[in-house]
Amino acid sequence: MNPLLDEVTKKWTERSSIRAFKPDPVPRATLVEMFASAQRAPSWCNVQPWHVYVTEPPFTAQLADEMIAAAKSGLPHSEVPFPMEYPTPYKERRIGCGSALYTAMGIARDDKAGRYDAWLRNYGFFDAPHLAVVSCDRRLGPYLYIDVGVWLGYVMTAAAALGIDNCPMASVAAYPEPLRTRLGIPDTDVILFGIALGLADPAAPANRCRTTREPVEANVTFASAPVSAP
Ligand SMILES: Cc1cc2nc3c(=O)[nH]c(=O)nc-3n(C[C@H](O)[C@H](O)[C@H](O)COP(=O)(O)O)c2cc1C
Repeated sequence: MNPLLDEVTKKWTERSSIRAFKPDPVPRATLVEMFASAQRAPSWCNVQPWHVYVTEPPFTAQLADEMIAAAKSGLPHSEVPFPMEYPTPYKERRIGCGSALYTAMGIARDDKAGRYDAWLRNYGFFDAPHLAVVSCDRRLGPYLYIDVGVWLGYVMTAAAALGIDNCPMASVAAYPEPLRTRLGIPDTDVILFGIALGLADPAAPANRCRTTREPVEANVTFASAPVSAP
């Protein structure tokens, strides 16, 4: 038993991605506190490659309108390719994730319009008062995206401690133009993902979605002897 680890694990067990927010903004000082904690994230040669653009009301809703229009009118085209296929066991996990969300929202499997509306809500950032758009200097190459992923984990840890609800959002990266133009993200940066930030609407069905995790053996292999002879 380790009290600090127990505390962290409890926080992680309690958290979930939030897909319906109250309109109340998070005070800027609290957001700065969260990002300041995440600045301690380690990175390759300490280059700290994450660039973060945080929207505040009323601009968040204006950007959301543009993103919804972009999502309605064009095919997704993220700058970093999204997965094209999900071989087993990822396929089953992905289906489980979608099914948990649609069940929570009361959307039937064959309800195409309901699923489309739920998908489109990504581009309204689930009504969050803030969207953090995260980019990385493309001249560093894709390996450094790992650093940004590590940083995201730190942000989410700090958010859990501060009670800031959130949803990481790959979806917004699929329509990068409004983000790049309106936020002034330079062409030297690649847009990686967004993070919707705010306070959860506790009454929203989408926020009842809970996902499962595999047992540790599914992901972690210990090796005390070589698998093949040296
Ligand atoms: C990098 C990243 C991108 C994600 N993008 C989206 C997204 O665009 N839309 C969404 O609804 N959820 C998104 N999620 C949330 C995942 O679906 C969610 O983390 C996963 O299903 C596990 O559920 P939980 O976060 O509630 O534990 C994303 C998560 C990560 C880490």
